[in-house]
Amino acid sequence: MSEEPLLKVQAVETYYGNIRALAGVDVEVHRGEIVSLIGANGAGKSTLMMTICGSPQARRGQIIFDGTDITQMPTHLIARRRIAQSPEGRRIFPRMTVMENLQMGASLDNLKYFDTDVEKIFTLFPRLKERQHQRGGTLSGGEQQMLSIGRALMARPKLLLLDEPSLGLAPLIIKGIFEAIKVLNKEEGLTVFLVEQNAFAALRLSDRAYVMVNGQVTMSGSGKELLADPSVRAAYLEGGRH
Ligand SMILES: Nc1ncnc2c1ncn2[C@@H]1O[C@H](COP(=O)(O)OP(=O)(O)O)[C@@H](O)[C@H]1O
Ligand SMILES: [Mg+2]
Repeated sequence: MSEEPLLKVQAVETYYGNIRALAGVDVEVHRGEIVSLIGANGAGKSTLMMTICGSPQARRGQIIFDGTDITQMPTHLIARRRIAQSPEGRRIFPRMTVMENLQMGASLDNLKYFDTDVEKIFTLFPRLKERQHQRGGTLSGGEQQMLSIGRALMARPKLLLLDEPSLGLAPLIIKGIFEAIKVLNKEEGLTVFLVEQNAFAALRLSDRAYVMVNGQVTMSGSGKELLADPSVRAAYLEGGRH
């Protein structure tokens, strides 16, 4: 691909105090792609996602988004450039209703799209429509994940970051969530960067993927290539969830 990537992470290092969690990470996400990052617990996946959003900030290296260097930008300005995140653990507002959670995700300069966007999200996740007046905290895990994604979509992102959307959900629910991600990508052309421990589901969905071990990318390729790779199979797929 000759076009500049939408997101370019270059030699990024992120620290927690003296501990280096990211040790020189290079990742690219092109427009229209679904890219996943797989790796064991503690590999640094969430740290990369959070570093892209500016908290914590990278100590070294560079993050270019849509032609702009966002490495040292404060989080709210990064969000305004339309990177939206569904963070690990979902972090919906439990005391607010589904509708209020969606309102929280809408950016103020896009309020004219509010009704249309809510309708789109309700079409994608009909369960949320049924539960629009229910408090977030009373939803099931799968519904909370839908709400977390829906809230991120309200920002009309150019890039959607998803951190472990399948975590703790039943296989059938995971299938529905991944199907929705595919629909967003195919029908809206949404670019998605997905972090997952559920390697099988992530690789099947992705155009390309990266493997992270101890804060470094050790492998990359198409989703198909990595699914077929013996070392990936041994480390992340054999006996894993299907
Ligand atoms: N807030 C934090 N303070 C200190 N160390 C952290 C913090 N968050 C994560 N870490 C450490 O950074 C490493 C990467 O963690 P993380 O990015 O959460 O991995 P993953 O998402 O792949 O499970 C781990 O060793 C973890 O213990
Ligand atoms: Mg994580």
